[in-house]
Amino acid sequence: MPHFPKPAEGSWTEHYPELGTGPMSYEDSISPEHYELERKAIFERTWLNVGRVEQAPTVGSQFTKEIAAVGTSVKVLRDADGGIRAFHGSPSGPVPIRCEIWEGFVFVNFDDAAEPLGEYLGGLAAGLEGYPFDRMTEVYRYRAEVGSNWKLYMDAFAEFYHAPVLHAKQYVGDESRKLSSYGFEALHYQLDGPHGMVSSWGGMAPPKDLSMVKPIERVLRSGNFGPWDRPDIPGLDPLPPGLNPSRHKAWGIDSFVFFPNFMMVVWAPGWYLTYHYWPTAYNRHIFEGTLYFVPARSAGDRIRQELAAVTFKEFALQDCNTLEATQTMLESRAVSYFPLNDQEILLRHLHRTAGQYVTAYSGRE
Ligand SMILES: [Fe+2]
Repeated sequence: MPHFPKPAEGSWTEHYPELGTGPMSYEDSISPEHYELERKAIFERTWLNVGRVEQAPTVGSQFTKEIAAVGTSVKVLRDADGGIRAFHGSPSGPVPIRCEIWEGFVFVNFDDAAEPLGEYLGGLAAGLEGYPFDRMTEVYRYRAEVGSNWKLYMDAFAEFYHAPVLHAKQYVGDESRKLSSYGFEALHYQLDGPHGMVSSWGGMAPPKDLSMVKPIERVLRSGNFGPWDRPDIPGLDPLPPGLNPSRHKAWGIDSFVFFPNFMMVVWAPGWYLTYHYWPTAYNRHIFEGTLYFVPARSAGDRIRQELAAVTFKEFALQDCNTLEATQTMLESRAVSYFPLNDQEILLRHLHRTAGQYVTAYSGRE
């Protein structure tokens, strides 16, 4: 019996029949030739998020972003009119790059024929508009070089059912065993063009049972799922319509996959984080995890944020710990096709979408 309502077709995957339900090839993650095609078909042709407007706050201020998959670095600067513009960093001199802003996020596109950013991001992004991103300017950043294909780490963050198993040690008492015995299910999944989202119940933020959390979390009112108390700012109540799409009272977290490599995780207690996956080779990428909070107004706020940030790091290390072994295992080609379950619909969708971009590009060439 499902824990939460499913689409009439019986499962989330079957709700999107174009996805199919068969085992999936991961050849797209172990082939240098396929990666070369992805660079041209995807990274040189889709909208890439390179940062936020707050990183270039005043006229003349700028930041740069290396994009190995495109073979360039991007310079983003605030011009004399207050607008944000992007240029090739060098060595060819400042040649402009298409640059558009969505909700303060700076995107670039190396394809002059690409559709406008708003059209590309579509309905899932539109449903987030009005969220107070511009007030969450306290930023904690992590960056790691990972020895796996970029899509594998996205896969690891594109479902939540692994959490009670992989992160068992983060849970106190028998919480993890209990969750494992129930079988985790997310509240809702949605696909929209190349993008997708998963919505989950939150469980422990703030926890119903204080015996289930570590003493430091109980004292600080912060932990695994961020500071427990929602900041009192506009835009969080009510939330924009795209958050908590199933309107479940136990909602805790929504995770969005904006193709190709930008993920956003919005937490019920009023903060969010972003993930970026920048490929540098078919079997390597740079991962960036960035946490955004409302600026701390007290030492207590600051410590609550730092506890959330270091706890996030423990989770992320556990999530990426398996990736290099997964890459090695896939490259052995001992197994070529893998079954994916219904909680893995976003994985299926990501690999299928990336494959479609490559096929369309190859057809044009
Ligand atoms: Fe995880």
